[in-house]
Parts: sequence; structure tokens; C-alpha cells
Amino acid sequence: MIDTIRYDPHLEVVEILDQTKLPLEKIVLRCTTEGEIAHAIKSMQIRGAPAIGVAAAYGVHLGLHRFTGTEEAFATAWPELLDLLRSTRPTAVNLFWALQRLEQVVEEALLTRGEFSERLAIARQRTLKEADAIRAEDIEMCKAIGRCGADFLKEGETWITHCNAGALATAGYGTALGVFRAAHERGTRFRVFVDETRPLLQGSRLTAWELREEGIDATLICDNMAGSLMAAGKIQGVVVGADRITADGFVANKIGTYPLAVLARYHRVPFYVAAPASTFDLSISHGRQIVIEERHPDEVRSFGARPTAPIEMPVYNPAFDVTPPELVTAIFTNVGALKPPLGASIRERMTGLPTRPGPQARPAADPAA
Ligand code: MRU
Repeated sequence: MIDTIRYDPHLEVVEILDQTKLPLEKIVLRCTTEGEIAHAIKSMQIRGAPAIGVAAAYGVHLGLHRFTGTEEAFATAWPELLDLLRSTRPTAVNLFWALQRLEQVVEEALLTRGEFSERLAIARQRTLKEADAIRAEDIEMCKAIGRCGADFLKEGETWITHCNAGALATAGYGTALGVFRAAHERGTRFRVFVDETRPLLQGSRLTAWELREEGIDATLICDNMAGSLMAAGKIQGVVVGADRITADGFVANKIGTYPLAVLARYHRVPFYVAAPASTFDLSISHGRQIVIEERHPDEVRSFGARPTAPIEMPVYNPAFDVTPPELVTAIFTNVGALKPPLGASIRERMTGLPTRPGPQARPAADPAA
């Protein structure tokens, strides 16, 4: 299995496989501070909704581990630590979900009896336990998602995936790629077309690498080639991951997911989403309420390190788009496949989740603005 992120208890460091270097180099970052974790998330050395949730959880532990001040100083440092990690990326709800779990653990630990130093020591221990639990639970949820989705992938079929929703985007195993892993483990023969996923090429850099490591039959395409493959009748399914799914079933995922869903509907190809419980945000219902991250213009003005546009060219660079529930055939989750009407299925199966996970919602950026 690919070790996306792990904590080394002897060295007291968080080890992260640097995804900006793949597939050319396999470099492991060793983070010892919450600032290094925040930087790794922002710069996408670690990316993918569940993976950044795990990273943020370990970031809280590192912050507490390094804190040596008084109770008064902690009263200022603690919200600052949470804000630092919350401000890294706005769209994936797993980040806020994980931080909310850690917040509760720390606040409960600080309510125990004893000197502040003793209570802080308890909080330190518990944050590590909680971060490890979030990581372990994520792997188990991904395996369950894989089993669920693999029931839908039939012998001889060809499916498309977009971006990277694999082991690298999670604590391990993957969501959309978990479906392929599980089907491969069962001995099903199938083929995958991998969208390269402009502008940052998570498809060609990461998904292509992961599928080849696994020995899965995969072929790389540019994002604008999916339509002609579908028109030629060569595709029997699409499966993608998600960064946030609302209570009504609106799915935020990597930019380019929505056009793929539209193409799939036109060509009558089933469009599946694969996601764990931690990706559902029941506090909002419509996709308009999801904050869509906008990234640096140079990601679009260049291809890799090479400039491909006039230096000052204005750019619109949203990192995610939103697919409405009517285009989704089913959502593969760790508690089974959710089918339309998605709003009712989600509310029935995904209750009991945190309801204040995200940053203040604001409308998605307007391309015409
Ligand atoms: O910007 P990224 O690379 O973090 O975007 C990742 C995606 O859009 C993934 O599809 C999503 O996080 C699901 S990961 C299991």
C-alpha cells in the first residue's frame, strides 16, 4: 500500500509523500511543526479531501506537542493553531470535519482535573490517538467504498476517472481508485481511461502512476477526449471522488468533473461518485453554498514549469466545480450505494455527522466577473 501520510512515534515527525514530486521522484517530507503541515496542504504536497483531513489532524498534534507556554498563552495559541490549519484550503469538508474532531478532543482533555501542564499532556496524547484513528478509519472506509463500487464494475467494461481520488488522496487505498483496486483484487478484468486533469495534472502525474503501480490496465487521455470516447460507445462508466457533498447531493470535485457528468448523461453512461462519510456536509443543501477555491493564475498560464501564455494574461482558475444531484447515478460510500433521490438517501444514511464543518459559505466565483 502507498503510505500517503504517517506519524513516526520514535522521531515524532509526520511523514508525507511529496505529491508535487511524483511521478518522477519519491520524496518523503518530515514535518515537525504545524506550520510545515499547513504549508504542505497549501502547496499540495499532500492533497485530496481525506488526506488533507488526516494531515490537519496531525498538525494539531504537532502544535500541542511544541507548545510550552502558560494556560493564558494557550488561550491565544489554540484558536490560532486551528485557524492556521483551517485556512489552508476551503473546499474539502474533510479538513474541517477532522479539525472539529480534534477540537472536541482537546477541549475535553483540558476540562480534566489537575495542573495545566498535566491537562496539556493528556491533550497531547489524545490528539495523537485521534489523528491515528482518523487515518485508520479512512483506510477502512475506503476499503468499504471499494467493495461497494466494485459490485457495479462488470467484467470487460471500460470506465473513466478524473483527477486523483486514490491512495494518494486518502490515508491509503482511495475512493474512486479504491473501486478499481477492489475490482482488480477480485480478478475482474476492466480498463480505465485517466483524464490528465488540467491545470495541475493530478490524473497524469498521480492516478496514472498509482494505477500502473497496481498493475491495472490504464490509458491516459487529455480532458477534452472523454466525449469522443463516449460517442464511440467505448465507455461504460465514470467514477470520481468528491471534496464535499451537500445534504441534497450536490457534489464538489476537481474542476472538469461537472462537464464529464454532463457528457455521461448525454451518452447515457452511468456517472458514479465515491466518497466516505467524512465528505458529506449536512449543514448545507445547495451546491451554491460550497466555497470554491481559486488558485494562482500561473497554474493555467503554464504547463508544468513552462510558461504557455502571455505573462500578464488574465486567468480564471477555480480548483473545483459542482455537479448537481440529477446527473449522479449513485454515490458509493462506506455504508453502501446511495441512489436517487439522493437528498433522501443522504439524509437517511448519513445522519449523525458534524453540522458546522465549513468556513463561511460564499457564492462560487463568477467567471464573467
Ligand atoms: O485539488 P486536489 O488535488 O486536492 O483535488 C482533489 C480532488 O478533487 C479529489 O477528487 C477529491 O479530493 C477526492 S479524494 C478521494
